[in-house]
Order: sequence, then C-alpha cells, then structure tokens
Amino acid sequence: MRGILFTEYFDFVAAQAGEEALEEVLAELDGKITGAYTSVGNYSFAEFANIHTLLCSKLDASPEDMARQYGENLLHRFRDLFPSYFEDVANGIVFLEKVGDHIHEEVMKLYPDAKPPVIKVQRINGEPSFLIYQSHRPLAAVSEGLASECLRFFGDPYKLGQQFKSGDAIKFPLEPIGG
Ligand code: HEM
Repeated sequence: MRGILFTEYFDFVAAQAGEEALEEVLAELDGKITGAYTSVGNYSFAEFANIHTLLCSKLDASPEDMARQYGENLLHRFRDLFPSYFEDVANGIVFLEKVGDHIHEEVMKLYPDAKPPVIKVQRINGEPSFLIYQSHRPLAAVSEGLASECLRFFGDPYKLGQQFKSGDAIKFPLEPIGG
C-alpha cells in the first residue's frame, strides 16, 4: 500500500487524537512494523491494519467511523496535493467517474507496484445509481468517506446509502437528497 496513505493517516490521527497517542501506538508495535514511513514508499496493508486496530482500541473509537473520517479528510488533502484533477470537473459524480477511468490509472502508471481499488459509478437509465468499490483490501469505509465528502464538496444532490456486497465488490446506493 502506497506510503501516502500512511503519512496522510498519521497526520489525520495526530490532528484528531494528538501526536502522543500515535507515538504510543507506533512504539508498542515496534519490531512488527516499518516505523518510518515516507509518502513514496510502499508498505504492507497488514501494517496499516495493525496500526489502525490498536489505535482505535486505545481511543475506544469505532474502526469503521475512524476510517470513514480519514477518507473524508483525505479528499481535501488530495485536493491540496493534486489540484489539477479537481479543475474543470462539472460535479462530484463526474469526479468519481474520473477517479475510476483516469486518476487511479495514472497512479498505476506512476507507481507500477500500486494497486488502487476499482471505483465505478453505475448508471441506470442514465441516472447515477450505485458507487462500486472493488479492492483486495477491506477499505470500503475509507472509500465511503472519500466519496461522500466528494459529493458534499461539489454540492451534488446525492448521498451514499447503506453499503452491501455484490459478488467481490461493495456497492453503495447513490440516493437523491431531498428528491
Ligand atoms: C485526486 C484524487 C485521488 C487520487 C490522487 C488518488 C490516489 C490514490 C493512491 C495513490 C492510492 C494508493 C494505491 C495503493 O496503495 O496501491 C489510492 C488508494 C485508494 N483510493 Fe484513491 N485517489 C483519489 C481519489 C479517490 C476517491 C474519490 C476515492 C473513493 C471513491 C478513492 C478510493 C481509494 C481507496 C479506498 C484507496 C485505498 C486502497 C484500497 O482500498 O484498495 N480514491 N488512491
């Protein structure tokens, strides 16, 4: 898993829970994890899972909620770090389509060892109906945070409904707001 997801996670956690909580967790896992992460490195998902699980248990926080909030925060960080992707985009649905068709493809060209998830918008009769997340990693909550914040940010009249499994993918209904 790309280092940027770790370094952004650490910044998010430090801002939420304080630098000390994070240091404590990293120290406790010493020997089991790399410990010094850079945004351009590549690390195992197991390290991320170990850190997230221990941190949430120490904070008595729900791992799902925390992962979702991390995703929400990440959307704004991506906007700061990669502003050009956000330019000339008509709305959030178009942006989510661009993530699947273009942005994650670019990531794979830049870093051949990256394995970003498949992100798709399924349309029914032309209407955006489902957001599809497909990954070998169980990070649907991060995806939910990223996508729901994306819809809010662009002011789209949709929100994400309750996720469900569909084959090896996870689907979120795209529900019209106030429709
Ligand atoms: C400018 C926007 C974006 C950029 C530059 C970007 C880039 C990346 C990169 C570099 C990774 C790491 C891949 C790896 O470690 O193999 C990643 C993973 C991920 N991306 Fe994106 N992404 C963007 C937007 C989004 C959006 C809007 C969503 C959700 C709908 C999304 C969902 C995810 C998820 C959930 C992961 C974690 C890995 C996994 O679940 O397998 N991304 N992305």
